[in-house]
Amino acid sequence: MLDLKVNTKEFIFNQRHLLSLQDYTKEDIYKVLAKSLELKEKHTKNIPHPILKGKTLAMIFTKSSTRTRVSFEVAIKQLGGYGLFLNSNDIQLGRGESIEDTAKVLSRYEDGIMIRTYDQMDLVNLVKYGSVPVINGLTDMYHPCQILADLLTIYEIKGQLSVLKLAYIGDGNNVSNSLLIGCTKVGMDISIGCPKGYEPCKNVVSMAMENSKASNSKVKISNSAIEAIKDADIVYTDVWASMGQEEEEAVRERDFASFQVNSKLLSYAKDDAIFLHCLPAYRGKEVTAEVIDGPQSYVFDEAENRLHVQKAIMTLLMSEGGS
Ligand code: CP
Ligand code: NVA
Repeated sequence: MLDLKVNTKEFIFNQRHLLSLQDYTKEDIYKVLAKSLELKEKHTKNIPHPILKGKTLAMIFTKSSTRTRVSFEVAIKQLGGYGLFLNSNDIQLGRGESIEDTAKVLSRYEDGIMIRTYDQMDLVNLVKYGSVPVINGLTDMYHPCQILADLLTIYEIKGQLSVLKLAYIGDGNNVSNSLLIGCTKVGMDISIGCPKGYEPCKNVVSMAMENSKASNSKVKISNSAIEAIKDADIVYTDVWASMGQEEEEAVRERDFASFQVNSKLLSYAKDDAIFLHCLPAYRGKEVTAEVIDGPQSYVFDEAENRLHVQKAIMTLLMSEGGS
């Protein structure tokens, strides 16, 4: 069994940013998870951990957020630093100032930049023109912080990461893209069940296939929810219409109707399968209340873990020596 505290001791963390988990090795991911567990324990025992004393994090949002915003803001505060919430409508970025200039200016004030936005290229440019760590708080393409919290939750419940099967039922979106990468990096089988035309990004599937060869895991994409969920240890879903797709909501509700995670569908997974959802959730649409509020659901532990993972990411990226 994987013991993160023992197995990660010698691992060196060499990352400077978090744009996509594809840039991370399995060891980097384990290192984040081990640091999350360490900081979670300190938090639980009320042991102060001001590792980022005096440091500041710019938090740019061009999309809504509850968990990402609050967990990052609380995390940097508990680490002894300060987070600035920057709604893109309130800063000049929203009026057309370039990412290039924003990156250069913020790098003069801040020790890190976390951004939630549409275009993954904006993050690439923040890295290119800025000089401080950049963290992806969700783009149309990826949601790596979420998947690290998911992996932590799975590890805490199942005691391992490989030799498990995760079934993602729903839209081939940012969350499923990042799950494809995260799972195949750590050796977990992943099976996606989505309607025709809503498959995850082809490039991401190719990357996941490559990763799976190295980690000895399996990737399966199918248009049948039942086929995808069979014998899963973890069942995961997300909204049918992501932020920015509001106009497609009605069409998507029709197209996704047979991909709702309900008790009947869940019964095809293993008896001890757990249910995860990144939240926000819409009961009666992608998941029934019976499932998300039922005994197999761990969605609030998963949401809590965003805080501990965020702390670990910032500690590793923004502190001298990453300790
Ligand atoms: N899961 C997640 O990222 O939630 P928010 O959109 O509330 O940040
Ligand atoms: N796929 C969803 C995730 C929200 C956390 C979205 O992008 O809106």
